[in-house]
Amino acid sequence: MFRLDGQIAIITGGAQGIGEGICEVFCQAGATVALWDIRPSGQETAERIKASGGNIFFQSVDVTDRKAVDSAVQEIIDAHGKIDILINNAGVLRDRSFLKMEQEEWDTVINVNLNALFTTTQAVLPHMREAGYGRIISASSVNGFAGAFGQTNYAATKAGVAGFTRSLAREVGRFGITANAVAPGFIASEMTASMPPEVVKAGIAMIPVGRIGSPEDMGYAYLYLASKEAGFINGTTLHANGGALPT
Ligand SMILES: NC(=O)c1ccc[n+]([C@@H]2O[C@H](COP(=O)([O-])OP(=O)(O)OC[C@H]3O[C@@H](n4cnc5c(N)ncnc54)[C@H](O)[C@@H]3O)[C@@H](O)[C@H]2O)c1
Repeated sequence: MFRLDGQIAIITGGAQGIGEGICEVFCQAGATVALWDIRPSGQETAERIKASGGNIFFQSVDVTDRKAVDSAVQEIIDAHGKIDILINNAGVLRDRSFLKMEQEEWDTVINVNLNALFTTTQAVLPHMREAGYGRIISASSVNGFAGAFGQTNYAATKAGVAGFTRSLAREVGRFGITANAVAPGFIASEMTASMPPEVVKAGIAMIPVGRIGSPEDMGYAYLYLASKEAGFINGTTLHANGGALPT
């Protein structure tokens, strides 16, 4: 159950954080993973996972660059003949209260978190359609539903991911392809590691399961939606937040 043996998965933003957790879990489930990132450290992440038995390779890809995306997809098709799973996980923050927000901060977040979904999904979808099978899963966020101070740009993209997913699901379901999203809650990351301990403690106090989420927790949420067994789940957003509002 929930195995990905013989399947080819692209995981964007896989160098660190949640993306790294997804890469680890997908490799453990038997997938061959193409780790995409703009960070050169993606190479080390791939080598570390490979050393523990994973089938994984790094491709230096900026998801906002159509040419880079198209050529990375072609390399995978040439080597493996198909792409079963696309995980649109790459994302950025440029937090600032709305009145002080610069155009560049708005544009960067919209470009990476939302416009890139157009690019990556359009590049991969024809291959999934030809194969009659596919799983497309994109990163939303609890803050796309709750809103957050200083995150008008970020929350707009993460709510946009949910709407994109619902609509795409209606178009691609008949080809054996599903589109879903994961909305992580409070997850241990570089960002949370740099927060004052009392802020982290206050955040955890809001989570009914009584702990912060891990990248591996997110990996398992993505794994479920990526599995063949989740074929009747389409157009939904899975709220992976330990029961914190809102769901
Ligand atoms: N960490 C959380 O608590 C949390 C909560 C809700 C949603 N999310 C979402 O989950 C996803 C992963 O979050 P994270 O905390 O692991 O973030 P992170 O910043 O640790 O990792 C994001 C990765 O995306 C890569 N990336 C950024 N721009 C890119 C581009 N143009 N092309 C390719 N790669 C690019 C970065 O280099 C980085 O490796 C994001 O979409 C984020 O918005 C995270």
